[in-house]
Amino acid sequence: MAHTITLIPGDGIGPEVANATRRVLAASGVVIDWEVQEAGAAVAEKRGTTLPDEVLESIRRNKVALKGPIGTPIGKGFRSVNVTLRQALDLYANVRPVRSLPGIEPRFEGTDIVIVRENTEDLYAGLELMIMPGVAQSMKLITERACTRICEYAFDYAERLGRKRVTVVHKANIMKLSDGLLLECFRKVALKHPRIEPHEVIVDACAMQMVKNANKLDVIVTENLYGDILSDLGAGLVGGLGIVPGANIGLEAAVFEAVHGTAPDIAGMGLANPTALIQSGVMMLHHLGEHTAAQKIEKGLLATFESGVRTADLGGTAGTEEYTRALCEAVGRA
Ligand code: NAI
Repeated sequence: MAHTITLIPGDGIGPEVANATRRVLAASGVVIDWEVQEAGAAVAEKRGTTLPDEVLESIRRNKVALKGPIGTPIGKGFRSVNVTLRQALDLYANVRPVRSLPGIEPRFEGTDIVIVRENTEDLYAGLELMIMPGVAQSMKLITERACTRICEYAFDYAERLGRKRVTVVHKANIMKLSDGLLLECFRKVALKHPRIEPHEVIVDACAMQMVKNANKLDVIVTENLYGDILSDLGAGLVGGLGIVPGANIGLEAAVFEAVHGTAPDIAGMGLANPTALIQSGVMMLHHLGEHTAAQKIEKGLLATFESGVRTADLGGTAGTEEYTRALCEAVGRA
C-alpha cells in the first residue's frame, strides 16, 4: 500500500538530509507518495510567513509528516515554525530515543534511553513581556492536563516497548508549584502502571547521571525546556546531533524530525550526516506499521557503520552522497 506523507525539507542542511532520507526509504521497498511542502526561513522571504496555511492543511490531511530542520529568522517578528506546528497540531509528546550505534566511539557504549519531552507548554508557550524598560519576564505555563497526558504517554510507551522504569525529571525543589504539579501528576499516573518502576530525579542531577550512567534513567519524562537541553546532552553521549532521531506525536497527527537544527556552518557543502533524519524515518515507518521496511533500514545502518563508511561529524571521510549511496546498497541487501 502506498502512503501519502507530507515532506517539509526545511532550511540549511534540511533539503540535503531530506533527499537522502527519501532515497533510503525507497531502497527499503516502502512506497511513499511525498507531498512536498515548504516552510521556514526561505519561504518567509517569498511569502511573508514561515508557515503557509497549506503546510498545516497537508499534515492534517495526511496525518503523518517528515520534517527537516527549520530556522526562525531572529528579531523579525516571526514565531518559531517548530513551536507553532507542535501547538497547532497538538503534537504533545516529543519522543527521542538516544541509542549508541556500533563503531562510532560514543562516550559510552550501549547507551539506550528514551527522552519523552512535553511539547506544548512550559517556557515555550511564548508568554513574554517587558514589565518596564530593562526588565523582561517569561512565563512558565504548566497545566495538570498536559502533565498527566505526557506522563501517561511515557508509561504507556515504557509498557509497549518493554522498558522497566520511567524517570520524571523536574526542579520541584525550587519551582514548587509548576514542577510540583508535574511531580504530583507523575505520581498519580505511576499508580496506574504497577509494572513500571517510577523514579524521580532533579534536572541538574539528571545531567550528571546521564553522563555517568544514562541507562539507569531508562525512559525520561520531562518538561519542554529540560527535554530540549537533555536531548542535546544525550546526542553528545552517542556521537552527536547527526544521529539522534525524534517524533512529535499527537492524537490527530505525527511529525517526525531529527533533534538537530539547520547546521548553517555546513549547509550546501554535501557534508551533512543524514542519519538522524533517516532514523526519524525509521520511527515513522514503525508508526505506519511498515515494520519490515523499518527493520531493513535498521540492519542497513548497522552494516554501514560497521563497514566504516561514515560522515565527517563521526570522524569519517564520506560526504552525504557517498554515505547515502552505501546505505541504500546495504538496505537493498538487508
Ligand atoms: P544545529 O543543530 O543546527 O548545529 C549544531 C552543530 O552540529 C553545528 O556545528 C552543525 O554543523 C552540527 N550538526 C547538526 N546537525 C548535523 C548533521 N546532521 N550532520 C553533521 N553535523 C551536524 O544547531 P544551531 O547551530 O544551534 O542551530 C541552527 C539553526 O537551527 C537555528 O536557527 C535553530 O533555531 C534551528 N534549529 C531548528 C530545529 C528544528 O527545526 N527542529 C532544532 C534545533 C535548531
